[in-house]
Amino acid sequence: MKKIIAIVMALAMVFSLALVFTSCTDNAATGEESSTEADAATGMTAKEGVLVMATNAAFPPYEFVEGGEYAGIDVEIAGKIAEKLGMTLEIKDVEFGSIIGGVQTGKFDIGMAGMTVTPTRLESVNFSTTYATGIQVVIVAEGSSITSLDDLVGDGSMKFGVQQDTTGDIYASSSVEDGGYGEENVVRYKTGADAVQALKTGKVDAVIIDNEPAKSFVAANEGLKILDAEWAVEDYAIAIAKENTELLTAVNNALAELEADGTIADIIAKYIPTSEDTTA
Ligand code: ARG
Repeated sequence: MKKIIAIVMALAMVFSLALVFTSCTDNAATGEESSTEADAATGMTAKEGVLVMATNAAFPPYEFVEGGEYAGIDVEIAGKIAEKLGMTLEIKDVEFGSIIGGVQTGKFDIGMAGMTVTPTRLESVNFSTTYATGIQVVIVAEGSSITSLDDLVGDGSMKFGVQQDTTGDIYASSSVEDGGYGEENVVRYKTGADAVQALKTGKVDAVIIDNEPAKSFVAANEGLKILDAEWAVEDYAIAIAKENTELLTAVNNALAELEADGTIADIIAKYIPTSEDTTA
């Protein structure tokens, strides 16, 4: 019994130290002072009553800007989570590659951007339970000599366009021995849409990107098609600072409720009509 109490006390100490540490880094990152004090007690969010979500809003149907407003699956799910936590949602549209670092330092409370759970990212942040599946696919020009994954080679004869720091970038840039095409054959763009424009103008031969954005880019641009093959199947989840276990639990509970009452399925169905699922 004594032993158990000692362990519990030790854990409590470690946890409160972690909280102190988090609140210090929060202040350093945001430059905010006393307004974060109240939250330092809970360690839940950087700004009281506000859930700050970092995203990269050029990734339809998960996040995009329409008529000056943020819209998409992630935006709506995050809105529902914030509602359940009694907070208001604040969205920050940043470069995809700066989301994890900003979450880690407490600049953002959550990172939600059709973000794939990877072992490397798990070294920096925690992820919520997964709320969607993503598939990496390949977009090529109609009439391209690339007709299957086997036609993709890293011998310098073709260029691959990707959104910088995404899993598409990570896969394509890895060495040929590791199943990629070599960094020297990859061209990185700020957004997936930029990579698709480069494909249209012949600057790259193939774009590796998540399937749902791929579908919407192909629908919006003539002369492109998606190869009927899956490069990789991935899980999307919400990134949260490792220290912020309280927020992680709250977000996971909210996700479970939204999953159970069909809210998430409804949001996904609104943006991804199932009739389209068979096309590729
Ligand atoms: N699923 C991919 C990844 O996690 C791409 C995500 C890109 N998201 C975005 N909002 N641009 O790397």
